[in-house]
Amino acid sequence: MSGASHTKDHVDTCTLVIFGASGDLTQRKLIPALYALYAQQRLPKAFKVLGVSRTKFSDSDFRKHATEKLDAPDEDFVTRLHYQALSTTDSSAYQGLKERLQKLHDGTHLEDQNLMFYLSVPPSLYHTIAEGLQSQNLNKSTDNAYRRLVVEKPFGYDIESAQKLNTRLKSVFAEDEIYRIDHYLGKETVQNMLVLRFGNGIFEPIWNHHYISHVEITAAESVGVEGRGGYYDGAGALRDMVQNHLMQVLSMIAMEPPTSLEGNALRNESLKVFQSLRPLPDTSTALSQVVIRGQYEGYRDAENVDPHSQTETYVALKAHIDNWRWGGTPFFIRTGKKLPHRVTEVTVHFKPTPHRLFQQTCSPFDNNSLVLRIQPDEGVLLNFGMKVPGEGFCVQPVDMNFRYKDLSDSPLPEAYERLLLDAMQGDNALYIRDDASEACWEYLDPALQAFAEDDFPLHMYKQATWGPEAADTLIASAPDGQWRNAQ
Ligand code: BG6
Repeated sequence: MSGASHTKDHVDTCTLVIFGASGDLTQRKLIPALYALYAQQRLPKAFKVLGVSRTKFSDSDFRKHATEKLDAPDEDFVTRLHYQALSTTDSSAYQGLKERLQKLHDGTHLEDQNLMFYLSVPPSLYHTIAEGLQSQNLNKSTDNAYRRLVVEKPFGYDIESAQKLNTRLKSVFAEDEIYRIDHYLGKETVQNMLVLRFGNGIFEPIWNHHYISHVEITAAESVGVEGRGGYYDGAGALRDMVQNHLMQVLSMIAMEPPTSLEGNALRNESLKVFQSLRPLPDTSTALSQVVIRGQYEGYRDAENVDPHSQTETYVALKAHIDNWRWGGTPFFIRTGKKLPHRVTEVTVHFKPTPHRLFQQTCSPFDNNSLVLRIQPDEGVLLNFGMKVPGEGFCVQPVDMNFRYKDLSDSPLPEAYERLLLDAMQGDNALYIRDDASEACWEYLDPALQAFAEDDFPLHMYKQATWGPEAADTLIASAPDGQWRNAQ
């Protein structure tokens, strides 16, 4: 079996080696997702986890730590978890890792075992680990088994570092063995955008600049940096949310219909969206007309944040996709921390009717909108005008509201469930390809560079508000002239 991109291998074995296993992500996301897959009997029969990190855990310490968020986990699952203390920067440690893997698979050759390496460590360690694996030949897929590398974001810090990282990783693993994870692509509601657009005949004919005036993409969070000040202060909202999650959402909304769901078919279409983005202006003054950065009051007092920090906790931008479908339809994208509440959604605003027959009457309704609610209260909402009963022609906006919870009693699966299983089965459609990641970095580069200069405006905003007023000015040019601030 190769690491090649094909839809869903059937796999009987997989050992998932998690680097950074004593960290938060393993306990909060990875193990719960694996356990949910286990409970649904969707994991390979011979599935094991080998947690790796510096912390001196025994197997039983790790089992206890990793399963802390699970409610009475099945003993059979727990005994599949193993641990190896290892310093990833010590090149001699990888021999020990290989020996441990061999021991875990006594009776079978390691060459026949599928191995997936998950890097939940700072990006500065990615290539060190990849090279450590290479030193023990653990990077080479065999005829019978794959070797795959899953990397968490941030994938690079800017275009230059992303390219360098890609080059280094690709000298160790083939591109189709590298799975760059973006948990937004694992969200049911993000995947559902494909179904809504390409599984229904009614939307696609009007999904273009002829009918759509503008699109809003909002990812609002009520939380602040929550103990992640050290990481966040060096990243900021543009790197943390826009370069990856929101660009992926944009591609789902804007892409052309893919010919299939096969990995590269989908990812080719995403890439074309990124390549069609109109470059951001490269002078600060022009850029400040289309990109707004903000910081919530009090951010500088957070732990591990520079007291003079210029890092943005909010960003809004106006993007244009210069192609036949979208010429003239702006996309307004915003994200921020310490906003009034958590809501991630896309609002597609349709153009008004060509002749406004009811405008002279008491109509408060102007145009249709379709809201794709990614979270919470996942669903789809269509807003349209209806006649108010009685005399005359008063038109009122009403909603047609679909909620996911009406579809099934069980909660939506966690993003990591889908993504981990896909990676084990060799389906990389929902993982980010090198060229797409680089295209996003390239697009945002003028903003990243401007943000590094002191003279680019940083607008302060009060906590629990919808961000700086300057962002309202940004959208004022759109027909509705204001953000949809969901209640
Ligand atoms: C992460 C960011 O990738 O996504 C966080 O690093 C952010 O800062 C989080 O809070 C948001 O994810 P979700 O799934 O809660 O929208």
